[in-house]
Amino acid sequence: MSVPSRPIRTAAVIPAAGRGVRLGPGTPKALRTLGGTPMLVHAVRAMAASRAVSLIVVVAPPDGATEVDHLLNEYPLADRTDLVVVPGGQTRQESVRLGLAALPDDIDVVLVHDAARPLVPVDTVDAVIAAVRDGAPAVVPALPLADTVKQVAPQPQGAPEPVVGTPERALLRAVQTPQGFSLETLRKAHDTVVEGEGATDDAGLVERLGAPVVVVPGHEEAFKVTRPLDLVLAEAVLARRRATDGYV
Ligand code: CTP
Ligand code: MG
Repeated sequence: MSVPSRPIRTAAVIPAAGRGVRLGPGTPKALRTLGGTPMLVHAVRAMAASRAVSLIVVVAPPDGATEVDHLLNEYPLADRTDLVVVPGGQTRQESVRLGLAALPDDIDVVLVHDAARPLVPVDTVDAVIAAVRDGAPAVVPALPLADTVKQVAPQPQGAPEPVVGTPERALLRAVQTPQGFSLETLRKAHDTVVEGEGATDDAGLVERLGAPVVVVPGHEEAFKVTRPLDLVLAEAVLARRRATDGYV
């Protein structure tokens, strides 16, 4: 990243436009509450907790941007952080692209953070930002895997799936968000890589450009709320934080 003569500006884009099908029927996932507060509000606060982040763009469900905007107004942030809400798209990739389009050109570093990872600690956020500021165009927080992973040949209708291979576990990482990028790099990736080429995260788009991506240590509490059991874990983590460190 070229070093600007003015202070480096960092923004966070929070894709929150998904329905949360795997969580089951009900309110869109990002608006479900954890400890009485919408998951999206926790995610916004997690980004605003970093002193480096001066702008947050929330990507709301396509038909729900006004409602999300009103909701977030009920949870004001400290003055140093601006908040913008834009409508999202049908896929995560489209939602992120729409969020990036809302960023002013004086942003240097952009984080992309899932609303579905409401409890990421600020130290993880700051570590990702620091690695981008140190010159990495793309940075992902990640953890080693607990489970061994098998590659299979999928079969129809629940038939047993033949194992094709077992990648060496020590070489694998489970990646989280926030992922951090120079804005130039991520814009180029989203402009170049077409939907449906199999990238399931933003760093995957950058990899397809042939640009380097590096991993920094992630955090257990940055897990993604995907299935009902994840809500139980998130509630427990939140309760522990409220009891021990005054987290709201
Ligand atoms: N997301 C988005 N726009 C979409 C789809 C997903 O902004 N069209 C966001 C989700 O809101 C979430 C993040 O991308 O914060 C990660 O996606 P995931 O955990 O898969 O959430 P959902 O797509 O909502 O869940 P599911 O796949 O179970 O429906
Ligand atoms: Mg999804």
